[in-house]
Amino acid sequence: MTTTNKKSAKGHEWWRSSVIYQVYPRSFADANGDGIGDLQGIKKRLPALAELGVDAVWYSPFFKSPQNDAGYDVSDYRNIDPLFGTLEDFDQLVAESHSLGLKVIVDLVPNHSSSEHEWFKLALQAEPGSPERDRYIFRDGKGESGELPPTNWRSVFGGSAWTRVTEADGKAGQWYLHLFDSSQPDWNWENPEIIDEFNSILRFWLDRGADGFRIDVAHSMKKDWNFPDLDESNSDSGGGALTEADIPHPFWNREGVHDINRRWRSVLDEYDDRAMCAEAWVMPLSRMAKWVRPDEYHQTFNFGYLDCPWDATKLRSVIDESLAAFGGVGAPSTWVLSNHDVVRHTSRFGLTENPPQGQGIGPEHKQPNEKLGLRRARAASAFMLGLPGGAYLYQGEELGLPEHSTLEHRYRQDPTYFRTNGEKVGRDGCRVPIPWEHDKPSFGFGEAASTWLPQPNVFAKYARDVQEGVEGSTLELYKKLLQIRKDYSLGSGELHWLEPLCGDSSIAFENNGVLIISNLGEPMSLPSGEILVSTQTGLMASGQLETDQTAWIRL
Ligand code: GLC
Ligand code: CA
Repeated sequence: MTTTNKKSAKGHEWWRSSVIYQVYPRSFADANGDGIGDLQGIKKRLPALAELGVDAVWYSPFFKSPQNDAGYDVSDYRNIDPLFGTLEDFDQLVAESHSLGLKVIVDLVPNHSSSEHEWFKLALQAEPGSPERDRYIFRDGKGESGELPPTNWRSVFGGSAWTRVTEADGKAGQWYLHLFDSSQPDWNWENPEIIDEFNSILRFWLDRGADGFRIDVAHSMKKDWNFPDLDESNSDSGGGALTEADIPHPFWNREGVHDINRRWRSVLDEYDDRAMCAEAWVMPLSRMAKWVRPDEYHQTFNFGYLDCPWDATKLRSVIDESLAAFGGVGAPSTWVLSNHDVVRHTSRFGLTENPPQGQGIGPEHKQPNEKLGLRRARAASAFMLGLPGGAYLYQGEELGLPEHSTLEHRYRQDPTYFRTNGEKVGRDGCRVPIPWEHDKPSFGFGEAASTWLPQPNVFAKYARDVQEGVEGSTLELYKKLLQIRKDYSLGSGELHWLEPLCGDSSIAFENNGVLIISNLGEPMSLPSGEILVSTQTGLMASGQLETDQTAWIRL
């Protein structure tokens, strides 16, 4: 199978400094006109990503799935869902990506399968205590006749984390654990069969040419088999941002998960130059850093940075903590501002407060300030792309695309909305199909008259074709930033704060001879030097960096 990999020298591996672009397959491009994105659609649009200047593309799950959680509920780990295409389409996508110089990162979901997975169906048919049930986490309930769930643990999406099954005799029986939706039963990672199965799944995609994995909810596979109840105040599983007082926790970030990390790392090390990145909502950063020790993950998402508000002092301290924590174990830091689980940063920065994760923004909520949000988002992205380490972009952010914050509830698909009875509107607002051409049906996303989530009219002005070649557009800004980042090897450089320019309302550092400065306060004058790129039009003439603007200057 096709691979582009040549082993790179230690310390200079591609993943240490790359820009990885997240494609959400349902919403990137639709080739067959059914209103849902697919692999052929992506393939057609790949040149646009090569032109943008990213190094790798991470694909959210496209595996066979009943799509109860947009594909994060996998029923066959070795096949493509017909909604998205076939294995042959995947092979073509890999070949095309590699010929354009783009790496391919596959999303692996090891904490849970779909309830439609063959092994879960067998588990339901089998008896309590059977080997089939032992692949998942089945327990008897509490109470006189087992009518109460085994613990008070709550699903991340709301409601109990346990669902009771009906046994073969027609009577209510055991309960199974699902940290997410009831259609996402958790695997039993104490069972050697599951360990072997996932090693084999990793090899399946590596053999097919995948350059690496993003590993979904990587910190929850190990459970406390004493099944203790949680304090009521803490039984809502949140996502893993624990304080030291909550540790050890019965399912988040247990020590044993590091054995799994090491096992997978040794599988990846059988191949040349592959990498894996953990989605682990582990805090504080000093704990997170343990995940990227030399024999564990290559990278982990840095959610401390993602959670950080647009505030100079806070940004600076998250960056310091990240570089110290990750650097301490010889790993690069990563930076990310948006993904398919959070409100797009263009809209987040247009609100006075970050909505809690999964909350989303609905038509009844206070609406973000679009102009302010976009200005700050551009400044924040320009700042992020100057930092050393790996950077992650989420599809549409290069267009400055806002959250769809007025999506009508009748269109909602995220299980969060249903499991919280609408209390949280969920994550659909950042998952809407992206606009390519302003005057085409579904803004060039595909031929269908309507898309799986409807696009708001405001997307027309953010369409790629409106921005292409237009000086000062967000798209052209990203292209320039990525080009200069490459020219000056900023991803593999080093950060040095420039103290005189750092205060309560501005932050500045030097990286490989480039000064990167963001102004979060009153207009300020700039040090002299050639302006390489900036978020502000007309900066060259004025020499004054306005509020919420970023500039890169050659020193
Ligand atoms: C991760 C994914 C999210 C999904 C959840 C359950 O957090 O990013 O989209 O719902 O895992 O798989
Ligand atoms: Ca389609």
